[in-house]
Formats: sequence, structure tokens, C-alpha cells
Amino acid sequence: MIMRFWSSLLLCGVLHICQSVYGSLIDDIVNAITQAVDCGSCHALLVPLKGLAALGNSPFSNTMAAVCKLIGAEDDDVCDGALAEQGPIVAHDLRKISPFDRSSTLLCNSIFGLCQQPAVQQLNFPLSSVPENQKQWTSQGRQPFQVVHFSDVHIDREYTPGAEVNCTKPICCRNYTAGLPIQQPAGPLASHNCDASTGLVESMLRAASAQGNSFSIFTGDVIEGDVWLVNQTGVTAHLQQFNQEMQTFIGTPVFPVIGNHDVAPVNSFPRNTTSDASSQWVFDTQGADWSAWLDASATDAVKHVSGSYSAVVSGTNLRIISLNNLYWYKANFWLFDSDTAQPDPNGILAFAAQELQAAEDAGQRAWIIAHMPPSSSDTLYDQSNYFDQIVQRYKNTIAGQFYGHTHQDEFAISYTDYTNRTADNAVSTMWIVPSLTPSTGNPAFRVYDVDPDTYEIMDARVFIGDLADPTFQTSPQWKQYYSAREVYGSALSDGWPENIPLTPAFWHQVTEAFEQNDALFQQFLEFKWRGVHVEVCQPGQCKDDAICALRAGRSEDNCVVASPGLSFRKRDRGERSNSVPVDECEGTGLGTIFSDLPGKMVNIDVEDLINKLKSAVPEFNDQETGTEF
Ligand SMILES: *[C@@H]1O[C@H](CO)[C@@H](O)[C@H](O)[C@H]1NC(C)=O
Ligand SMILES: *[C@@H]1O[C@H](CO)[C@@H](O)[C@H](O)[C@H]1NC(C)=O
Ligand SMILES: *[C@@H]1O[C@H](CO)[C@@H](O)[C@H](O)[C@H]1NC(C)=O
Ligand SMILES: *[C@@H]1O[C@H](CO)[C@@H](O)[C@H](O)[C@H]1NC(C)=O
Ligand SMILES: *[C@@H]1O[C@H](CO)[C@@H](O)[C@H](O)[C@H]1NC(C)=O
Repeated sequence: MIMRFWSSLLLCGVLHICQSVYGSLIDDIVNAITQAVDCGSCHALLVPLKGLAALGNSPFSNTMAAVCKLIGAEDDDVCDGALAEQGPIVAHDLRKISPFDRSSTLLCNSIFGLCQQPAVQQLNFPLSSVPENQKQWTSQGRQPFQVVHFSDVHIDREYTPGAEVNCTKPICCRNYTAGLPIQQPAGPLASHNCDASTGLVESMLRAASAQGNSFSIFTGDVIEGDVWLVNQTGVTAHLQQFNQEMQTFIGTPVFPVIGNHDVAPVNSFPRNTTSDASSQWVFDTQGADWSAWLDASATDAVKHVSGSYSAVVSGTNLRIISLNNLYWYKANFWLFDSDTAQPDPNGILAFAAQELQAAEDAGQRAWIIAHMPPSSSDTLYDQSNYFDQIVQRYKNTIAGQFYGHTHQDEFAISYTDYTNRTADNAVSTMWIVPSLTPSTGNPAFRVYDVDPDTYEIMDARVFIGDLADPTFQTSPQWKQYYSAREVYGSALSDGWPENIPLTPAFWHQVTEAFEQNDALFQQFLEFKWRGVHVEVCQPGQCKDDAICALRAGRSEDNCVVASPGLSFRKRDRGERSNSVPVDECEGTGLGTIFSDLPGKMVNIDVEDLINKLKSAVPEFNDQETGTEF
């Protein structure tokens, strides 16, 4: 506290000057917010915000929390918690970067939705050349084996049956307000608007286990969506608890990945070039527990390659390469703390290439598993582009890529030539699995039928729990919802031969069938949300963009335009009505709070806001407790 006091004096000279510095910053910030309508004005807003960050983390977080509360962006406790957690990271960024460089543009894209991502910084990612005689992978027509894929479980250990479903917080079904009459009580097991109960998760793990699976892949996000409350102690305990549950309820190996929620603060994965901040505790926690399924070299990699690893599935010729790709995630604010470009933060891309080379050398096939699909608008264009170069180089080795994060049942296709996306040019499929959390759709998992010689996917079958079924809450049944081969194969004009896997060319043809056959496309949307709050997307711009996104192994090609009007608060979800990309996974991060800032300022008296801000934020030199880094 004493240290803080003196550093404040150093910054401001004497206290009354300091307060007037603060006061004029408030004027500048509020005025800049009202004018922040495009990318240029967003950069201009960063100038006074950088001034505020220079005063310290607490003045920054407290002021932005006050803005959040005064404009009614979220409940007060959510504003306070979210800013206390993530505000210091943004303040750190602002202190380190120029308000007008490329990292600032990315920050304006990520937090405010006011800039588009800048064009890719072209780079030929260093890769070996393709060998002359590549191994041919041919099916022997043997019986497929089963692999279960589940993701985004988001277990709320405080899920309370009987608590209010329709609350004002990002997740409901918690006993937030004892004493108020309950309008819509939470079910014993699960409710939409809420994350998964422990009982729902156990039921799903048992059902998955009953599918005769050889092994499972879990593509991340254990922790519930209370992102304004999470801390290291709680996250560690919850990660360990779920690791234990997977062991208890699934008898076969699980190959997990790290999700953006599996850390505190949410999305917080500092690069190794940032001193004094690290998420190594997550890698250590998971490395220790995942040794139940992984060999010593893989668990060692978890700890030393930022949560990534590579492992050959016992008794197979299949190498699973698990990547922590949250160093490519635009809501990981640590990525914007330098004006010096880092093409491969923490060496994750180099690790992917190294392990694919090892697979190629050993005559193995590989599956890539990671949390966030590199096709999604959440992935920074640069790293998505470099990753795509790796996919092109090793397309003969990669038999599939598997992701979660979007909570939606979808897919994306990589091509050799993105200017000419055809079935012949399609080279890789990204299989994106729907979430277990029922917050945005019925809870789901997927079962793949896998060719034991090529490790290609013969069929993908989705199972759901139907919350509308009155018996689900007490005796949950998980039913097969659809088979991709049955629904989409039969819809192709020439059908799809029984002995041919669901190749990238198959999925490209499915997107062509969507163009021709709108009923099939509407069926896809129904599946995407598992029949709940299905988005409305008609032929025209919306449908064109949706199909474009499916044909975008690289995020730069997915036709998504950043928009300041992005609004994805839980209570708005029933009114989902267009193809605006929703980062379902971020929950109430700063991006949710500060997207559409000018829009949120409508009906706000600016003078009044300035006065309230000046009185709402106490003298910061007394309050300073945060560490600066
Ligand atoms: C949820 O509650 C709000 C206000 O309390 C109310 O306006 C709204 O209609 C409710 N929504 C549902 C689906 O019951
Ligand atoms: C909610 O908490 C209050 C005490 O804070 C308790 O009396 C009440 O039984 C709880 N409700 C539920 C549904 O657990
Ligand atoms: C950390 O989070 C856990 C819940 O995950 C909570 O019980 C605990 O009170 C929190 N600790 C602090 C210091 O906030
Ligand atoms: C960060 O990680 C990369 C890739 O593993 C490595 O080459 C580099 O030396 C590391 N830098 C620091 C400062 O640890
Ligand atoms: C597009 O790719 C196809 C192969 O799928 C090729 O036959 C055709 O010539 C290409 N067209 C252009 C304009 O490059």
C-alpha cells in the first residue's frame, strides 16, 4: 500500500494534480466512447484508456467497472468481478503498446468489435518438403471401431435444483437470491440458460461409455460460465474433479485438451515472453492427472509445451496430437501486450509440425485435437493461416481434426486453394462437436465409427438428451439424434458409397446440397442447435455466409465481419435471428461487456455519467492492491 502510494505520487506529482489528471481522463474517455463508432475512433479511444492504465490496474479496472455498471451492461457484481479479473490484463496491454499499431487494431477487434482483423502477415511457415513416395492409406473394409467425442461440459458445481432459470446473470440455476419467489424453477438435472449439473455430466459419461468406445476425445471447457467469479483454487479443484469423473465413469482412455475456460481468469494464457504472469499451474494440474491415460513423454509435454502433447493410441497406428491453441484466440488478451509480432506464440505451431513429421516418419496416421476450431472467427487470422500451411503439408497424414468451443454441431473444410473451393480441392475436415452444456441447446455428444486401417470417419452419430422429454429430469435417456451418413449421404444427388468414408470431398458436396436444397440446410440448422432456439437463416446473405463459413478451414476466409452490435448475452438468446457469429464460449468476458459501447450509451446522459464516474471511483491511491506486470 505504501509502495502504491509513492508510485502514485511519482506518476502524478501531488495528489490534487493526480485527481485532476484522473478527472480529465474521465472526460476524455466518456467522450471518446460516445464517438467510438469505427476502427479509427476506437484507436482514438485507446489513447485516454492508455492514460488511465498508466495510473495503475485498480484505477483502470474500477473505472471500467463503473462504466459497465452505469451503462447497465451487466449486473453490478458481474461488472465488478469481470473487470477485477480481466481488467488488469487489458491495462497491462495498453501500457505496453502504441494505441495506433497492429496490436491495438486487434484489441479493438477483440474487445469492442470496432475493427476488422488486419490482413494476414504473410509468412512461409518453415516445413520440410513433401516426400516423393507418400504412404497410401487404403481401407481393408474391416469393421469400424467407436470413438466418443464430447466437449464444453461446463459443469456448474453450484447448480441448484429449484433455483431460478430466468435470472439476470450470464448463468442461472444458482441460489443467487434467497427469498425471492421463483418463477421458473430449475429441473433436478438440467435446464436451458444454465450450465451442466454434476448429475447431467455423470449420466452423459455413462451413456458415452455404453457406446463401446475404444477411447474418447474431450475437446475442453470443464469450468462453468461464471467467469466473473473464477479463481485458481476453484478451477484447479474443478479440473481435478472432472478428471476423476472421466476415470470413474469411462473405462477406456480419454484424450483431453485444454479449453479457454480451464484457467483463471478466463481465456488467460500469457505468452512465455510475458514475465510475471503464467498459467503453468493449469498445465501442471492437467499433466499430473492426465497421466491416467497418457505415457510419460506425453505428460511431460503437457507440462512443458503449454498443455499440448502427442500420443500414439495403444494398439493402433494412430497418433493423437493435442494442441493448446488458445495462443491463437482473440479473446486471450495477453496476445496483445507487444507491438512485436510473434508468429508462433509458445511454439505450438512448431510442435504440431514436429509431431506430424514424427507421424509421417513412423508411417502413422494423425488426428489433431484442440479446443477452438481454426476456422472460427475467434481464431486470429495469422495463426489460422500458418496452421493451415501445416495442414496442407501434412494432409496425407492427417485423417481428421476435432474441435469444440462453438457449442454448435458443425464442421469446416480446408482446401488446397481457397479461391477455388471444390470437392477436388478439399483436403481436411474439422469436426466440431456440440456441447454438453445445455445452456444453448440440448446436451449432446458424438460417436464416430472409425476405419481401423485408415483412421478415417465412416460415420458420425450425434446423441442428445432431450430436455423437453418429461422423464429426462429423473431418468435421463440419451438417444441417437441422427447419423451424418444417413441424413447427408442420402441427400447427395448420387448418394454416397457405403464403403467410402465421410471425406472432405463428401462434406464439400454436402455444402453444395445445402445450396440446392434449402430443406436440407434448415435440417442442418436444427441439428446445429439440437432443436432448441434454432437460428433463423434464410436463403440470401445469411445462408451464403453460413455456407462460406463451413468452407473456411482458415478464419480469414470465413466471411465473418466483426460487428459492434454483437450481443450474446444469455437473455437475448431466445431472439437469435441472424447469422451474427456468437462466441458462445466466452460468456461474459470484457468482449461481451464492451461490444457495442456506443449502442449501450444510447439514453445515457453523458454529463451525468461523467459526474457519477468521478464520484463512483474512490481515490485510487488508497485502493491500489493489484500487481502490475
Ligand atoms: C424472464 O424475466 C424477465 C424479467 O423478469 C421477463 O421480462 C421475461 O419475460 C422472462 N422470460 C421468460 C422466458 O420467462
Ligand atoms: C438458498 O439459500 C438459502 C439460504 O441462503 C436457503 O435457505 C435455501 O434453502 C436455498 N435454496 C435452495 C433451493 O437450495
Ligand atoms: C474461489 O472459487 C471457489 C468456487 O470455485 C469459491 O468457493 C471460493 O470462495 C473462491 N475463493 C475466493 C478467494 O474468492
Ligand atoms: C518461448 O517458447 C518458444 C517455443 O518453445 C521458445 O523457442 C522460446 O525460447 C521461449 N521463450 C522464452 C522467453 O522462454
Ligand atoms: C478449380 O479447381 C478445379 C479442380 O477442383 C480445376 O479443375 C479448375 O481448373 C480450377 N479452376 C480455377 C479457376 O483454378
